[in-house]
Amino acid sequence: MPRYANVPGPTIRRLSLYLRQLEAMWSAGRDTVSSKQLGDALGVTDAQVRKDLAYFGQFGRPGIGYRVPHLIDQARMILGTDQTWRAALVGAGNLGRALIAYRGLARKGFKIVAVLDRDASIIGRPLPDSDGLAVLPVSTLPEVVPAKNIRIGIIAVPAPEAQPVADLMLQAGVQGIVNFAPVALNVPPGVPVSAIDLAIHFEQVAFQVAELAD
Ligand code: NAI
Repeated sequence: MPRYANVPGPTIRRLSLYLRQLEAMWSAGRDTVSSKQLGDALGVTDAQVRKDLAYFGQFGRPGIGYRVPHLIDQARMILGTDQTWRAALVGAGNLGRALIAYRGLARKGFKIVAVLDRDASIIGRPLPDSDGLAVLPVSTLPEVVPAKNIRIGIIAVPAPEAQPVADLMLQAGVQGIVNFAPVALNVPPGVPVSAIDLAIHFEQVAFQVAELAD
């Protein structure tokens, strides 16, 4: 049974937001924070903050609130970002190259240690801003994943290719997938998948803007 099997998904997602906010507060020199201050910064109620954090233990002290560095450590431990996660990226196109160049991932403990593609014209080429990574043939995934101790797969291929790439990743030993292709993946039960479909966020904002106009 996973440690946090009973924690609702929205709570886990808010924990990431709390962590980001706490890191910003810590950088700004703040040592303690109340559930109200944390909630206000993120647009959630103090009751929600307390309820979310109570899933993981007793962190706060009445009258004092939460100690920011302690809560950061705890949130990182719960989210697993206190360790380095090694990831393989499949698809070295426009999005893939942007992800490789994005330093924010490594700062959060996610290190892209292999980049794979099927396009012969880019295989073997070094990637800019990648600490010397070169594109590997996607067919080498079954050897690369165990050799480089990779646990997370990142999919940045066109939508019709995403499912075969996901299948290949799982066969190779990848344990969880972040999917940027706008398509729902079929994976065995229990395999963690996070889908990042930018269009959905645009749709949500467009809907709300349209509502404002009415
Ligand atoms: P792209 O066409 O620039 O790059 C795709 C890369 O995937 C190419 O290098 C291609 O050779 C490789 N590829 C295709 N099939 C493959 C396979 N079976 N195995 C290994 N490599 C394979 O496309 P782009 O723009 O980078 O988009 C990639 C995915 O990300 C798409 O699904 C797109 O909808 C999504 N996306 C793109 C965004 C962007 O800003 N470019 C933003 C959000 C999502």
